[in-house]
Amino acid sequence: MASLAEPIGLPAAPVPPGRVYYRHRIVTRVCHWINVLCIGFLIASGLNIFNAHPALYWGKYGADNDDARRWFEIGAMDLPDGTAAGITRVGDVHLTTTGVLGINRAANGQLQQQGFPDWLTFPTNRDLATARRWHFFFAWLFILNGLAYLVYGFATRHLQDDVWPRLRQLSPANIAHDIVRHAKLQFPRGDEDRHYHILQRLAYAGTVFVLLPLMVATGLSMSPGFDAALGGLLPGLFGGRASARSLHFITMDLTVAFIVIHVAMVILAGPINQLRSMITGRYDVGVAKPGERSE
Ligand code: HEM
Repeated sequence: MASLAEPIGLPAAPVPPGRVYYRHRIVTRVCHWINVLCIGFLIASGLNIFNAHPALYWGKYGADNDDARRWFEIGAMDLPDGTAAGITRVGDVHLTTTGVLGINRAANGQLQQQGFPDWLTFPTNRDLATARRWHFFFAWLFILNGLAYLVYGFATRHLQDDVWPRLRQLSPANIAHDIVRHAKLQFPRGDEDRHYHILQRLAYAGTVFVLLPLMVATGLSMSPGFDAALGGLLPGLFGGRASARSLHFITMDLTVAFIVIHVAMVILAGPINQLRSMITGRYDVGVAKPGERSE
């Protein structure tokens, strides 16, 4: 096995076939896994908080009788046969979601009327006060960890050089090439695998610079403390506190979509090598197939 080369982000040198190199610095790795922990608890405790009022509105306000502003809700309705159905409404679309959303089983096996099921929430029983405490604890940890990742990433030029999409990668031909390659479940190996490809960069940069900051900003929009300190600036930016809550929920959904695709790609691209790189830093770029093009 060859000796470890420099981390991702330092000047590129051709990588001999099969070479293991040092891909992720310690701070990137620690921040990544703290982030995974935070996001997991934030989503689960957020769903518990959402269950206290399982409906979303556009505008400044939202309450039970605000039918015009309500665009999303999870509820239940009685069926003619005497049973109840879980109903999820998105705009004009009504979906029957019995068993998961609206009507689901509690830990004791009894059917209950509740937005998200207990097994998706933290804590796993209906407890708004406890869920809020955990949510705010992990939100601040998430923010501090995110700031550390950003400061370190900019200082070492990791974010500018490795994560931010390169101009030449943004050509439609290169993006189309990468999409086709992913659709065929072909992942670059060899020298090309030393750098994130364009779809990875777009996904990571979109998450780091747009999605997660938007999740934080919409979350802070709902804080009465920040509201008072900033004179209502944040909720105003998003069209009101109810709109900010809706956008907070949407950014959570998009984050879940990112995680599903991200983890699927890690599994498909070789989970042992991928996970090892995010745990120890070492990554095996493997050997390129003959004729594989670069970038
Ligand atoms: C169990 C869940 C997760 C696993 C197994 C996982 C695994 C990985 C692995 C193996 C890499 C390195 C990919 C490579 O070197 O090509 C990576 C990078 C990355 N992951 Fe995850 N991840 C998870 C969850 C998350 C979550 C929740 C987020 C954020 C919402 C996230 C954001 C990122 C970002 C931004 C990078 C690039 C980091 C950088 O280079 O600075 N991951 N992840």
